Amino acid sequence: MMELTNRPRRLRTSPALRKMVRETRMDKSSLIYPMFVREGENIKEEIPTMPGQYRYSLDRLPQALAEVADAGVPSVMLFGIPDHKDECGTGAWSEDGIIQRAFRLAKREVPDLYYIGDVCMCEYTSHGHCGILDGEYVDNDKTLEYLARIALSQVQAGADMVAPSDMMDGRVAAIREKLDENGYCTVPIMSYAAKYASSFYGPFRDAAGSAPAFGDRKSYQMDYHNRKEAVKEVFSDLDEGADIIMIKPALSYLDVIRDAAEQIDVPVAAYSVSGEYAMVKAAASLGYVDEESIICETATSIYRAGAGILLTYFAKELAKFMDQGRIG
Ligand code: PBG
Repeated sequence: MMELTNRPRRLRTSPALRKMVRETRMDKSSLIYPMFVREGENIKEEIPTMPGQYRYSLDRLPQALAEVADAGVPSVMLFGIPDHKDECGTGAWSEDGIIQRAFRLAKREVPDLYYIGDVCMCEYTSHGHCGILDGEYVDNDKTLEYLARIALSQVQAGADMVAPSDMMDGRVAAIREKLDENGYCTVPIMSYAAKYASSFYGPFRDAAGSAPAFGDRKSYQMDYHNRKEAVKEVFSDLDEGADIIMIKPALSYLDVIRDAAEQIDVPVAAYSVSGEYAMVKAAASLGYVDEESIICETATSIYRAGAGILLTYFAKELAKFMDQGRIG
């Protein structure tokens, strides 16, 4: 026998011990499940690029929400897909817009879930950009008033929290001011603080019909070469009053999640986006990887990087794996 003082393998000798010494702990209470609602009746249509994820018409929504709650996932983020779009995304803040009706219904039918509204314009604008256009450029300051209005309308309809995903400068402050003026000073803001211009959103844009009609989102979403800039974005959102900050996407941005977690004292969320989901589903369906193991490993890596909250299309599966003690 070798005289080895350190034998790291000692702590790997049994399942109970391995669980005892786990460094990363996670819990179902940290999961948020993104869902899509659309106009129409009796619709539960599978999103072709996101197998296993659906667009629901309002009448089919409560059943789907009940399944989320039954799985032990405490929170959902809702995305609306309107029938009609226009230049200024009117459908995003109208009182009888799809998302406003969804929140009212959801709060009434499945009140135990915690509801988060994604605040953005791209699903509602005819040009598919996340704000008001000036020529082909998204006008930052003009867009702020619209975002604030969208956030307020979602909260009035019942959203418990709002999450601006547009990446305009100053939107957190604009939303905070609008909510406070209207008596909603206790409604938190989770800002998509560092949201990169990413090809990982491709399947989402199919799902929501929100791909830009021209150009791309690089004049407002971040350049993926940058890491320090994410820290700057995070701090400026905190200054403006963000309560939770989010990094998005997750898997290719674990370093950014780590930076945020180390440098700030507010909760850090990570959004494992549609393309991350689609890649796992595609590879698993071909038999190239084992789906369940890959779901567990990738999600754990995001928590290990420092996220305390995870938005993921695998939320229901992860809740089950946590119940089984496979991870967590
Ligand atoms: C809206 C928004 C997007 C996502 C969340 N909110 C799309 C985008 O920025 O193009 C992407 C979510 C995903 O890919 O799962 N701006």
